Formats: sequence, C-alpha cells, structure tokens
Amino acid sequence: MKTRISLAALITMMLLVTFSCQQEKKSTIDKKWWKEAIVYQIYPRSFSDSDGDGIGDLKGIISKLDYIKSLGVDVVWLNPIYSSPNDDNGYDISDYRAIMKDFGTMEDFDALLKGMHERGIKVVMDVVVNHSSDEHEWFKQSRSSRTNPYRDYYHWWNADKGKPNFRYSLFDINHDAWKYDSLTDAYYLHYFSRKQPDLNWENPKLRQEVYAMMKFWADKGVDGFRLDAFQFAAKDTTFPKFPDGFEKDFMKYYAVGPHLHDYLQEMNKEVFSKYDVMSVAEGAGNSFEDAHNMVDADRSELNMAYAFDGVDIAKPQGYSVNHFKEVFSRWDSAFADKGWLSIFLANHDQARMVSRFGNDQPAFRDLSSKMLSTFIMTMRGTPYYYFGDELGMTNAGFEKIEDYRDMPSLNEYRHQKDIGGDIPKLLEQLKFSCRDNGRTPFQWDTTMNAGFSTGKPWIQVNRNYRTINQAQQEKDPNSCLNYFRKLTALRKSHPELVYGKYALLDKANDKVYAYTREFDGQTVVVLLNFSFTEAETTIPNDLKNATLLLSNYGNTAIPQGKTVTLRPYEAMVLKL
Ligand code: NOJ
Repeated sequence: MKTRISLAALITMMLLVTFSCQQEKKSTIDKKWWKEAIVYQIYPRSFSDSDGDGIGDLKGIISKLDYIKSLGVDVVWLNPIYSSPNDDNGYDISDYRAIMKDFGTMEDFDALLKGMHERGIKVVMDVVVNHSSDEHEWFKQSRSSRTNPYRDYYHWWNADKGKPNFRYSLFDINHDAWKYDSLTDAYYLHYFSRKQPDLNWENPKLRQEVYAMMKFWADKGVDGFRLDAFQFAAKDTTFPKFPDGFEKDFMKYYAVGPHLHDYLQEMNKEVFSKYDVMSVAEGAGNSFEDAHNMVDADRSELNMAYAFDGVDIAKPQGYSVNHFKEVFSRWDSAFADKGWLSIFLANHDQARMVSRFGNDQPAFRDLSSKMLSTFIMTMRGTPYYYFGDELGMTNAGFEKIEDYRDMPSLNEYRHQKDIGGDIPKLLEQLKFSCRDNGRTPFQWDTTMNAGFSTGKPWIQVNRNYRTINQAQQEKDPNSCLNYFRKLTALRKSHPELVYGKYALLDKANDKVYAYTREFDGQTVVVLLNFSFTEAETTIPNDLKNATLLLSNYGNTAIPQGKTVTLRPYEAMVLKL
C-alpha cells in the first residue's frame, strides 16, 4: 500500500514536471504576427492596369483587393512604387517620397493602404537603399562638383589617384562597377547598372535621410520593409585590390562589409523599434553566422532574411531532389532554435516556380504547381508567395530578344554580341531563367491581354492565358487557385505549420520529400512526390489512423501503414 501511494505520487509528480516543462516550452516560443503571416508579393507593373497605358498601377491593385483578400494572405509586399526613370523597373529610385507616375499618385497609395488595412492585410514596402537612381536629386548634386555637400552621399574615386581597383557590376554591360564621369574627373561606383549609383552608408547624413524616409512611410501606416540588396550596402571604402577571379566568389567579397550590423542596429533603433513593423533583408550574407547576426532577436537588427540557396538549385537540366531537401533542411536546422527565415521558391527575380521546380507540361502543371505550393505553405518560416503562382502561371519562354524587357538580360545580350559570344546559347538560357518569365501580366481571364490591360502591355502576356487564368480557376473547385486558398486556411488553422519543429523523413529518397512538423503535441506529416512517376516512401509513422488534411489529388485514401505510394507530383498533408 505504502509503495502504491508513493508510486501514484511519483506519477503525479512526473506528470506535473512534464506539464510544467511543456508550459515552459510553450512560453519560450516567441510568437509574432510576422512569423504567422503569409506574404503575397505583387509586382505592381504586371498585376492590373486601370488606365489602359499597358502598365499595372495602384488603382489596378485597388480594384483587386477583394481577390487578394480571398486568397487568405495576411501581408502584401509591393515591389518599388516610387518615382523612378525605370532603368530597373523601379529599383532605381529618383524620389523616395513620391509615387511613380506610371503607378498613380500618393492619394492612390493612401487609398490602397486603407483598402488593405480594412481587409486586415498589411503592406510591406521595398526599400532600395544600397543605391538610388542617377536621376535622384542627391546624385545630381553629388556629381555636380567635388565639393558639393552631397558628394559623400555616393562613392567617388578621383581620377588623379589613377584607376580604382576593379569592382564587378552585376548589371553593367561590361561588368565594370566604376563609371568614369568627366564632369568632375572621377569614377562613381555602381554594383548594379550605371543608372544605379551606390549610396555611401559611411556618411551619417545619408543614413539619417534614409531613416527619415522610412519613418515617412511608417507614419503613413505601412507595416514593414524589405531591404533590397542591403547586404551590399557596407563597403571597405579604401577599395583594396581583390584577388584574381574574386568575382566567381562574389558574395565572399561583397556581402556584409564593415559596419553593416552597426547600420542595421542603428536602423532598428531609429525606425523599427518605434513601430510595429516587420523587416526582412534580401540576402542572408555569406554564412549562417552572417544570417544569424542579422536576424537573431537579441541583436535588434532585422526580423528575418531570405537566402538564395534554395532558389539557386534549379537548373535548365533539372535539379536533384536530394539536393533540394538537403538545402532546405540545412537552413531549417541552422535556425531551429534562434532566428527566423523566409520560405519562397519564386519572386520577381526568378523565372516561374512551376517551370523551374515543377513541371509545366499540361499533364503535370496543375499537380506539380499545387505540390510546390504545399511545400511552401507547410515549411517552417514565413512564406513569401509570388503573385500568379496561385494560378500555376508558367514561364513565357520568349524566343526573340525583342520580347525581353529586363535590363541586365538586354545588357548581357549586347555584351555577348560585342565579344562574339554564343547568342543562341544565351537565348536558350533566357528562356529558362530570365526574370521576365516571372514578370508577364497576371492572367485574369480570356479577354484581350488576359484582362490585364486594354492597352498594349509593357511586356507580352503569356500565350497560355486562355487556359490558365483566374476567371476559369475561380469556377473550378479543384483549380490551383482554390487549392492555394485551402493551403492558406490550413496554415492558419494549424500552429504546428508555423511554429512546429521540422524533421526530415526518408532522407535518401531521391523522389519524395517527406517531413513532419510538430508543435505542442500535434504532429503533421507532409509527403511530396517531386517526380512525374509514381514513387514510394517509407516513414517511421504508421499512417492508418491519420487524418488527411489536404491532398492535391481528388480521390486520396489514407495510407495504410508506413509505406506510401505516391502518384506523380502527389502532395499529402496528414495529421497523426
Ligand atoms: C534586387 C531586386 O530584387 C532586383 O529586382 C533588383 O534588380 C536589384 N536588387 C537591384 O536593385
């Protein structure tokens, strides 16, 4: 009897300890709205054109607010909408406090923000401050004389010191990041195009101007900032010589230069800490350490970053599913305890998700696109979902250079012509990877120009708009669009998909990506067949008593056991 009582007491004690541990575990999860959010990225130029000039605009977005709401997303990230001569479609800003004429007016912006907020959707703005446009007043002043007060807003190298050490430009026709300017007999630096001179972050006045500009938008009520190319903002301004061939290891020499973290901490103190805004950096530096230094909460820099390792995997000749799994698992484990990531497979700098990672042939487009969306919506990290992917929009695959609009691609074409390069090869590459593939107008319906514009679109509409469009998918309960809505609802109703621990299953399987997400005693199993054939996976969990939460096939039976045969591009989400 005595033993029995103490055994009962022991069990009670153990239960209490487990419970309090769980409580403790629960309370250590740092819940944030931006971790729970689903971000939908809109490329304004290509979403909806309200005035028939062939260019998408803010009023166009306003006219589609209910559609955006219907997707179940929480945040909209807008690519730059500021005044710009559009050398790089708005990533060359000539006035950070004004709206690009093509896109409308500040009143339109205010109405857009209001309309989003009325629907419970937050708005994230792109902040492009590694560089400005060469048509920005700061640069006009800066180049006017060596003694102008704005001279130090940019990086100048006086020619009397000789030629500066070579720096690689990503977008320049000759890839030379120094451009000679005879007006003051000096070179200015531009990591991107000649019309995108790099700002000098060592200058405290410039930094204060940037923070004031960000506050201007935060005061208007915007809910977050995406820092474009910011990992390149800090430079060693003595511009030392880099070893030969350094451009092949670009990031090592260019990313996270001296004082970058000081600048981010200052920006956090001056801007982020004063508002309930989210912050995300494009690029996560050169290592996990760099990334952690940017996003670990106790450092007060940014909320999250997005790394390119995942999207860089896709190649025209295909990619290894095991490589894909390895990259996403590695990034997850590096951030399992600290920091936060973004999950994405496409954006305006990538070709279309289904054409790169799935299979855009008619037989598999729909299935593989749903499967990839399932991946994005069931991984740990904040999902960034690119407009049009909810329809399974595909690469345009233009045949002729005249159809392309992307400045770096056109520069590369001219460069290859100049050096007698392999033009057919370049055109073949562009068909698969050019950013224009992801920038063609949103396909609303089967009317002229896919319902995007009554005028001539700035870039051709994908020829397949009569089969792939929102109006048709709206009516079909099994469409990619309606599947995406189920996915957003699923993520919203399952905290384990947001906060849950990720564990890779059946690691060596080269066709199936299987994993669990576990949180608070709840476990979800995700099974994704990345191939166009049937594929089998064996996992540690017996699924016969599981509940099927979602599947991209209409007639899916609960698997009976631990071995599951998945149909081509099949996606299943199950609850144990
Ligand atoms: C990254 C942006 O995403 C891209 O579109 C742009 O061309 C470069 N930064 C330069 O701003």
